[in-house]
Amino acid sequence: MPTDLYKEHFLHPQNAYYIPDPDGVGSSGDPECGDSVTMYIKIREDRIEEISYLVFGCSGAIAVSSMISVLAKGRSLSEASSITEEDVIKAFDVFPQEKNHCSMIAVKALQSAILNYYATARLRAKSTC
Ligand code: FES
Repeated sequence: MPTDLYKEHFLHPQNAYYIPDPDGVGSSGDPECGDSVTMYIKIREDRIEEISYLVFGCSGAIAVSSMISVLAKGRSLSEASSITEEDVIKAFDVFPQEKNHCSMIAVKALQSAILNYYATARLRAKSTC
């Protein structure tokens, strides 16, 4: 049964928008259900200054994308990349068990955005040598 916090993040998702010039972008999807998330991050002094996402999916995918954006904002890249599916589920206090698998796509999209940031930062550093 969805809880108030789950419903709040599903019905009023936070940080759901597009960042036009992100420092990192990452996407993830579940081929079985067709749901997908793309995360955008802006980095300042090794911290996630801004995070947003666009999601196409079920209530779980939307609620989890919203929650992980709240959890990751302001964290160091190291801390943010350590956020697990279990961390996100626990942040809801009570999470519909049948939606547990939905937490995977948002966590992977964030990890992918962080990896993309490191890869593009390395390319920028090489181009200035
Ligand atoms: Fe696919 Fe929820 S059913 S992410």
